[in-house]
Amino acid sequence: MATMHGKTWVLCLLLLLLRGLRLGSQAALPPPCESQIYCHGQLLHQVQMAKLFQDDKQFVDMPLSVAPEQVLSNFQDLNRAHNSSIPRQLLQEFVNNHFRDKSQELDPWTPGDWKDSPQFLKNISDTKLRAWAGELHQLWKKLGKKMKPEVSSHPDWFSLIYSKHPFVVPGGRFVEFYYWDSYWVMEGLLLSEMPETVKGMLRNFLDLVNTYGHIPNGGRVYYLQRSQPPLLTLMMDRYLTHTNDIAFLQENIETLALELNFWAEKRSINVSVGGKSHTLNRYYVPYGGPRPESYSKDAELADTVPEGAREALWAELKAGAESGWDFSSRWFSSSRLSSIRTSKLVPVDLNSFLCQAEGLLGNFYSRLGNEAQAAKYRSQRAQRLAALEAVLWDSERGAWFDHDLESGKKNREFYPSNLTPLWAGCFSDPAVVDKALKYLEDTQILTFKHGIPTSLNNSGQQWDFPNAWAPLQDLVIRGLAKSSSPRAQEVAFQLAQNWIRTNFDVYSKTSAMYEKYDVSSGGQPGGGGEYEVQEGFGWTNGVVLMLLDRYGDRLTSGAWPALWEPHCLAVALLPHLLLWWW
Ligand SMILES: *[C@@H]1O[C@H](CO)[C@@H](O)[C@H](O)[C@H]1NC(C)=O
Ligand SMILES: *[C@@H]1O[C@H](CO)[C@@H](O)[C@H](O)[C@H]1NC(C)=O
Ligand SMILES: *[C@@H]1O[C@H](CO)[C@@H](O)[C@H](O)[C@H]1NC(C)=O
Ligand SMILES: *[C@@H]1O[C@H](CO)[C@@H](O)[C@H](O)[C@H]1NC(C)=O
Repeated sequence: MATMHGKTWVLCLLLLLLRGLRLGSQAALPPPCESQIYCHGQLLHQVQMAKLFQDDKQFVDMPLSVAPEQVLSNFQDLNRAHNSSIPRQLLQEFVNNHFRDKSQELDPWTPGDWKDSPQFLKNISDTKLRAWAGELHQLWKKLGKKMKPEVSSHPDWFSLIYSKHPFVVPGGRFVEFYYWDSYWVMEGLLLSEMPETVKGMLRNFLDLVNTYGHIPNGGRVYYLQRSQPPLLTLMMDRYLTHTNDIAFLQENIETLALELNFWAEKRSINVSVGGKSHTLNRYYVPYGGPRPESYSKDAELADTVPEGAREALWAELKAGAESGWDFSSRWFSSSRLSSIRTSKLVPVDLNSFLCQAEGLLGNFYSRLGNEAQAAKYRSQRAQRLAALEAVLWDSERGAWFDHDLESGKKNREFYPSNLTPLWAGCFSDPAVVDKALKYLEDTQILTFKHGIPTSLNNSGQQWDFPNAWAPLQDLVIRGLAKSSSPRAQEVAFQLAQNWIRTNFDVYSKTSAMYEKYDVSSGGQPGGGGEYEVQEGFGWTNGVVLMLLDRYGDRLTSGAWPALWEPHCLAVALLPHLLLWWW
């Protein structure tokens, strides 16, 4: 037996120790998305590149019908037999024999706390709008989902991440939960007096933070590499306002702090302005590879750039998805999607959401009597306020703008997100509200009568002109409505009226609510981007219910200017008719 020299022993021990330390520091968290079926590998690659389905998301949503090891070994045999290029027909057969249809892992669920006539409906004066709100309230039953127990007993047979508690989904192709969507869904559920459903959804999110260290973009393993706009602390705040369930806060406050840690540790960036360094956050996903649910599109897009730039492109696409704005010229350097560089921008909305979360968490700790932690989060908020003002605020234009890390300049294009600090209450000088109002006038945003567009850039992407999205309406409307300026409040009401009419008109024609609307064509369902426009729709319903609740005594379903109503026209034309007849 060979003997080791003393020095070698020491070296080995040292290496072991280092390895142990490294593993130790990471042991708590599993790596995001290991699955050789749903996240990486030849099987995913060949099936998606063969385009067996119209929408790549369909394949990665299908549960297995055979154990995962068997699926992989059968695939390897087939792949070897065909020299890594399996004919389409055989791939189709393989999928048929090893996978089940999508959505079989979810059962419909009628929320236990759903009730017939929540109070807020009674406060809506316009009878048509009140009836409509009643129908939207009914939709919660259609959007409720519950997981089958087998998702818990055999997690690796599914891409779905098991959630213990039932939840409400956006709708359409989105049959799992989504992180930031859920905030507006919860606002609607709370108006519908369904706090138990909200509590279950909150528990699911808290469980995810405890398991993965963050909340994934949505409830599938292939979403684990990225998060979405951080609104968990705000969700808790809204739930507490409705229930005063302090015991629940006490139980979970450390988990809220853990989520904010994720953003601090994995998504922060130092920006130097005027000789002073500020710490802010950005969307950033340090993983390459095509997104499994849009695999063939991402792979084909990568073919248009040099080979050495592909992994970086995929990571920037994932960061774009993390922002919730997938995709938008907001993240591009040219008009092409392949120029995306999400992580090179410091976004106004992300930093406003975090500023608000830090303030809320400080208040929560204070309520629980933990002044040391309260002070820590208040000081974080104060630092971020200073950073928002120094880096993102533009007093000349009267708005905040994303900071471009590459050019060191602000991106002065219009996006509704430019006003998020008003909504989040993250500013110190009350004069900013009037300036922001002037900014909306200067950019002529108030001339759009069907909703606030996502940008003024008609790029063909879904988070651009002419699409308008419900959460962005809420950011601007409630941002202005919070102000003490009567003018800002009146503009907020007008914007609410515009949005309600657009949604109501489309609903009257199609009996459906959509994920987005087109402001250029008299308010039609929106278009563009990677997939067909989707019906449902969780956050759209939530925002409509919020606006109907807030302005229910004033909003009308009436057609555009009252002049166009048939009876108005008749009255207006009557004298002419009489004269003519005379
Ligand atoms: C298998 O494919 C590789 C490249 O794709 C090719 O070079 C090789 O000749 C093929 N082998 C057979 C047996 O067809
Ligand atoms: C309905 O409106 C009345 C009068 O404005 C108000 O006092 C009450 O709180 C409202 N109720 C709900 C459920 O919004
Ligand atoms: C930002 O600067 C601080 C203070 O110098 C440092 O501790 C931190 O690691 C920096 N963060 C990043 C993301 O570079
Ligand atoms: C649209 O956005 C892209 C990327 O920011 C920019 O290059 C282009 O000039 C914009 N087009 C218009 C018409 O503003």
